[in-house]
Amino acid sequence: MKITVVGTGYVGLVTGACFSEMGNTVTCVDVDRKKLENLERGILPIYEPGLDGIVKDNYKNGFLLFSDSLEASMKDASIVFIAVGTPPKEDGSADLQHVLAVASEIGKCMNDYTVVVNKSTVPVGTAEHVTATINKVLENRGAEVEFDVVSNPEFLKEGDAVNDFMKPDRIILGIESKKAESYMKELYSPFNRNHDKVQVMGIKDAEMTKYAANSMLATKISFMNEIACICERLGVDVENVRKGIGSDTRIGYSFIYPGCGYGGSCFPKDVKALIRTSRENDFEPTLLDAVESRNASQKNVLFKKIVSKFGSDLSGKSFGIWGLAFKPGTDDMREASSIVLITSLIEAGATVRAYDPQAMGEALEYFDPTCLKEQRLILAQNQYDAVTGADAMVLVTEWKQFRQPDYKALQEEMTGNVIFDGRNQYSPEFVKSAGFHYIGIGR
Ligand code: UDX
Repeated sequence: MKITVVGTGYVGLVTGACFSEMGNTVTCVDVDRKKLENLERGILPIYEPGLDGIVKDNYKNGFLLFSDSLEASMKDASIVFIAVGTPPKEDGSADLQHVLAVASEIGKCMNDYTVVVNKSTVPVGTAEHVTATINKVLENRGAEVEFDVVSNPEFLKEGDAVNDFMKPDRIILGIESKKAESYMKELYSPFNRNHDKVQVMGIKDAEMTKYAANSMLATKISFMNEIACICERLGVDVENVRKGIGSDTRIGYSFIYPGCGYGGSCFPKDVKALIRTSRENDFEPTLLDAVESRNASQKNVLFKKIVSKFGSDLSGKSFGIWGLAFKPGTDDMREASSIVLITSLIEAGATVRAYDPQAMGEALEYFDPTCLKEQRLILAQNQYDAVTGADAMVLVTEWKQFRQPDYKALQEEMTGNVIFDGRNQYSPEFVKSAGFHYIGIGR
């Protein structure tokens, strides 16, 4: 099939690349010419395991194309995906200006039957706005072109995006037309071989499914973080409690890892947007509010522990931070807990040396350049360089290479002997036996 994907961000690029891998001819459209030129040269705007190979191979084979012309790309494309950003506005609601601008462009370029697919995470009711926008443009053109709008939310995780796309748990299709359903089922047939993963439902139901899924996962994490806070005060090890409850199949082991808060481009944004939608519809979402506020507090938990160990004036103190990205396997810094922690440490007078295996370039955009210039924040060469002269090491992102530290090297580099384990990766007993003071989350 010939398809167009508008937007070469995380979702758009993975979607386009994976469909091209299945033999479709996919044109990824973006307004950023530089980004497109880089993609043509095999330089990706994001770090995502496995994606660069798929992009390079399919570009070479002619299955994956890049263009800044939506019109040209739509010439014989039967399906157009909208995968542009929906950043949160100040009031927490999703900003739909990019989605609707693309809808309007699609209306201008459409000449034959087209399935317009919303892949971006958009509030319930957006498909109706997209339909109305396209209809208005067609009316102005005096053109009569048949089209359907479909909601097909994406559930991929950063760091495992290709795998999630290629082997989805489910394919949600919000469709209200048989014709569009047959196009979409055909497109997804290679991903739907072993058992039927396609769930067809109403368009609004599909839009809501995405918000409910992310909010449910965020709720599990915030719940567990709250349990960890209680455990800590009772002298209970939350890690035993986690395993104890996870073994109940009704609860399950996933997304109950306590830590220093969830970040990323999805959970914070989507929980906020659903809160906003609820209020707009005269419902007070007390649970979602609590999920959100627990997470905001959780991002401060490491700083509070540091203050209770070293006092509120941290001048003269130095901290080595391991991990900046919002989770391992990505260079994405959006809403990362490291931002909150490092900003607070510097404000309290401390010096910070930080290292991340992938996010060092991204990190530059998230911190005050003056701090970097005055060396209150130093981006280190490697994980051991990050703890040089440190009073404490703080683990913020659980990259594999941080899992088994060389404690001898830590002792040689650090001046202090405290390890703050923001993701409960280490055995408190082992850390103690290696000569360090261990402070984890909820244990
Ligand atoms: C999430 C959803 O998982 C995915 O389905 C959706 O499409 C987009 O949002 P992503 O943001 O890439 O994906 O990362 P995810 O692995 O879900 O982690 C999100 C955050 O939660 C990270 O900051 C992570 O550290 C944190 N987390 C996750 C926990 O604190 N505890 C856990 O048990 C799991």
